[in-house]
Amino acid sequence: MSNKTFYITTPIYYPSGNPHIGHCYTTVACDSIARYKRMQGYDVMFLTGTDEHGQKIEEKAAEQGVTPQQYVDGIVKIFKNLWSYMNISYDRYIRTTDGYHVEAVQKIFKALYDKGYIYKGEYTGKYCTPCESFWTDSQLDENGCCPECHREVKEAKEESYFFKMSPFADRIEKLLLETDYLRPKTRAQELVNNFIKPGLEDLCVSRTTFKWGIPVTFDEKHVVYVWIDALNNYITALGYENSAHSDFDKFWPADVHMVAKDIMRFHAIIWPAMLMALDLPLPKHLAVHGWITFNGQKMSKSLGNVVDPFVLGERYGADAIRYHILREMALGSDSSFSNKIMIDRINSDLANDLGNLVSRTVAMVIKYFDGTLPADREADDLDKELISMAENLRTNVDRCVDETQLNNALAEIFKVISRANKYIDETAPWVLAKDEAKKARLATVLYNLLESIRISTTLLSCFMPTTMPKVWEQIGADESLITYENAGKFGVLPQNVTVHKGEVLFPRLDIDKETEELNAILLKNAPKSEDADKANLAPISETIKIDDFGKIDLRVAEVKSCEKVPKAKKLLCLQLDDGFGTRQVVSGIAKWYTPEDLIGKKIIVVANLAPAKLCGVESNGMIVAADVGEDARVIFVDKDIPNGSKLR
Ligand code: ME8
Repeated sequence: MSNKTFYITTPIYYPSGNPHIGHCYTTVACDSIARYKRMQGYDVMFLTGTDEHGQKIEEKAAEQGVTPQQYVDGIVKIFKNLWSYMNISYDRYIRTTDGYHVEAVQKIFKALYDKGYIYKGEYTGKYCTPCESFWTDSQLDENGCCPECHREVKEAKEESYFFKMSPFADRIEKLLLETDYLRPKTRAQELVNNFIKPGLEDLCVSRTTFKWGIPVTFDEKHVVYVWIDALNNYITALGYENSAHSDFDKFWPADVHMVAKDIMRFHAIIWPAMLMALDLPLPKHLAVHGWITFNGQKMSKSLGNVVDPFVLGERYGADAIRYHILREMALGSDSSFSNKIMIDRINSDLANDLGNLVSRTVAMVIKYFDGTLPADREADDLDKELISMAENLRTNVDRCVDETQLNNALAEIFKVISRANKYIDETAPWVLAKDEAKKARLATVLYNLLESIRISTTLLSCFMPTTMPKVWEQIGADESLITYENAGKFGVLPQNVTVHKGEVLFPRLDIDKETEELNAILLKNAPKSEDADKANLAPISETIKIDDFGKIDLRVAEVKSCEKVPKAKKLLCLQLDDGFGTRQVVSGIAKWYTPEDLIGKKIIVVANLAPAKLCGVESNGMIVAADVGEDARVIFVDKDIPNGSKLR
């Protein structure tokens, strides 16, 4: 094995519900990088797993009448099934309930305590006795009561251990601003401004109000709370402070931790602080991606808007799903999931560009040369651009993978595939085939196409591992030729290569029919929101006449700017473009949306509502939202509907 090592991790996921496309994104991205690095000859450790402790799991298990361990065992099975279904090549799977991890976390907690970085203190907050939960001021409902049961809360204190963060502030600021630890680096300043400049707060690392956690060995009423348990998985899985594994020295520090933005702060600030406290080297990179959103909201178990990857995989195959989610997400931005965009992409990129290129090329070799190319060649200037693009592809993809810009890596590969399709049109093999004297030229054209396919699919196989071997079979590329080294060279296939007709790689889809069917299936299968069961749907109101409805003037409007209303916790003040001009609307949605969630989005406004003043701020209209349990969800509309359009 090579002495170059590469260690990459996903977050460890909460097994508090079934995995969804959002989890697939991080895992598929890490898998593709891990495969790429293996192909480059690295000795790779790709770690994923599950974060199995905590109050939420304890409650879920109780609801189902099983023990927390039984509960997590069931969900972990589903995660593992999904990873095998998506062809995820993880090298190790850590469960935080694994004995070795529990023991190691206890040792780490004690070591931090002995070094003086963990101390006993008091956690103060608003406490709800029936729910046995602490809440911060911003979590309370509009009446200042418990957000769960809406009963009164009281100021209370709980004994807790805290992790001292302040000694590490300067080093962390340097790590964020002066190194390329954080990707994209554009987020570094925001972290420094929001969390370091105001003074790093110590972190609460133990609780006494629930039991499903790792006990603190020297104070048994406490269990370790979230982050000391979860973050340390990245080192306990390698054998840090345990003897279950023994490759810590080989793989630490990690090359890439990949996470979504919701847990960036923990990985950008708290994790480095913990490692500094333990005197351990810091990971090389933290790659932070955005969310897969659905109708403008984060796809998440608790919102019940999750897309089931098994359903998609069954219809289009795991590779098509892998391709779609990787291609759609630019590092650092959110990516909005849409069935239609996915189906369009499968058709245009996979069925048309890639599938057609392979099937046309193979069909022509069979038609014009009975499947085996003759060895005679005749080059032409027309070949140069395609050959040089194919030869340079590996370098371009290397760079994108090293920068964790996987959408760009795929875009580079598909540039060569598109170029090869264009080359078919330029060289018109069907015309060459009519002229006996052009046989050598025809063979050259087809050979160049086969080589372009070999190079692009060798690199693509890291992202789409199931389908590419079928391509190699069709283009007559023995698997021994499929290497990283050969992906950088043109002219590797034997001159007299023999191709084989094979199955259609990606069948063409009827976009409208497919979108309609898929929408219906996903709607039917969508798990209900956790709150939906509890939500008492409001009864349908009294019947009205169409004229009554006609009195309500609903318009599409775009949120141009938005800010919090000072001193009014619940209110946001929005400036809308309603097609006629600027309209100011005040809305009580600050609990669920930040201004950034809304700016640039199109919403529906009740445009002929009499003006009113809310907390002294004038409001001209009302934003349409849906009640979902205790929450309000704004109704967003398609960007291509013009501002001012009237609803009917
Ligand atoms: O936070 N879009 O676990 P978790 C993109 N246990 N990625 C998404 C996503 C979405 N809509 N939803 C989830 C935890 N993810 C902790 C982590 S790590 C030491 C402890 C992915 O199950 C994304 O990678 O809530 C995100 O960071 C992770 O799932 C959070 O998973």
